[in-house]
Amino acid sequence: MPTNKKIQDSLQTNAYRRQFIKFLAGSPVLTSFSAFTQEIEETLGERLTNPDQVINVFEMEAVARENIPPAHFGYLISGVDSDATLRANREGYTRYQILPRRLVDVSGPTDMSVNVLGAEATSPIFLSPVGSTGGFNSEADVGVARAATAKGHHMILSTQASSPIEDVAAAREGAPLWFQLYSTNRWEYTEALLRRAEAAGCTAVCLTVDLPGGRNTETSAVLAREDDRFCEECHYGQAKPIFDGLDMQGVGLVDSSMTWEVISRMKEVTDMKVLIKGIEVGADAALAVQYGADGVIVSNHGARATDTGRGTIECLPEVVSAVNGRIPVIVDGGIRRGTDVFKALALGASAVGIGRPYCWGLGAFGQAGVERVLDLLNRELGITMRGSGTPSIPQIGPDYVQDAGQRLPRGLLGREIL
Ligand code: GLV
Repeated sequence: MPTNKKIQDSLQTNAYRRQFIKFLAGSPVLTSFSAFTQEIEETLGERLTNPDQVINVFEMEAVARENIPPAHFGYLISGVDSDATLRANREGYTRYQILPRRLVDVSGPTDMSVNVLGAEATSPIFLSPVGSTGGFNSEADVGVARAATAKGHHMILSTQASSPIEDVAAAREGAPLWFQLYSTNRWEYTEALLRRAEAAGCTAVCLTVDLPGGRNTETSAVLAREDDRFCEECHYGQAKPIFDGLDMQGVGLVDSSMTWEVISRMKEVTDMKVLIKGIEVGADAALAVQYGADGVIVSNHGARATDTGRGTIECLPEVVSAVNGRIPVIVDGGIRRGTDVFKALALGASAVGIGRPYCWGLGAFGQAGVERVLDLLNRELGITMRGSGTPSIPQIGPDYVQDAGQRLPRGLLGREIL
């Protein structure tokens, strides 16, 4: 594969910069703490060579950044426009604060298990759909599925998955699998995707509804500019395996004419449960219930759809209130800590989804990296549950969280490498 000189040059520059920072860190010249923390950030990804050395998901991102080609890393980390929503997804969590209760016996096992629409999992942390995972590591969705299965987590597979859905279903070894659907602009194609997912054993379909207007993924475009290798390996044929056997000439992935009737239309074709993914306001959640959805996913597509500036955790309370317990509500976007999971559950989510963090694990160490990410988040969640006096998921309720009314200063997010 021809290698681009610009990339070589920039890698060279990075290597020199790192050498210089290492020199500073080891010399008496180093007087400032900020130079030291910069050194940690700059060289972390190189120094962590084993998943067990990684202590949080931000460190996993640093390792992934070393391994994943710039354009693919840009695709993964990109938000839209100036990334206001991307920041809001993360910073929204500072608005909510945990109210721990004391002198509760939490000495027994901590039970994090959930059952959402029949999908049993040992943790409320689901793996949200992410497209093109083969660009992060060749193990792709099969590696992700193996990790999720090993750790007892539930998983939703993207329409844009790099691995065939049947292979992913096999890697689930009987554990449930849900399918994320882009309804194409040709209904017979949408039907074909639904039938293939159901035949592969999927028990629910999550219809993405947040991209009728296209999107402007600038970070992705900027990093792609730095990495203009001809990447036939990655993009050969363009269409993903779920479309095998379908002539995709002229077929669009998004049906921008969709309205709420799509739910009943889907239910005529499939027995899978139907969840609507991409709900951000209470009024839409109420409509989803009215039109027969089995669940909703509060999501802004990992801040890759409309740049609303509103974090999904900030959308969650009004959705929970509108749904009023009639169907499960799942939330994804910006979850990076066990405390984030706890806050979402306390605000009424039945489960949460993570996307980028497991992809960092995949890019860093393949399946083992995904497993490490799940272990880290589960460990943090367990600590938070015991520390709050709620050793099982049903005990986590609205009494355990308060809304400070505004996002708190960025520094409170701690050692994040953003
Ligand atoms: C796919 O769903 C993406 O956001 O790129």
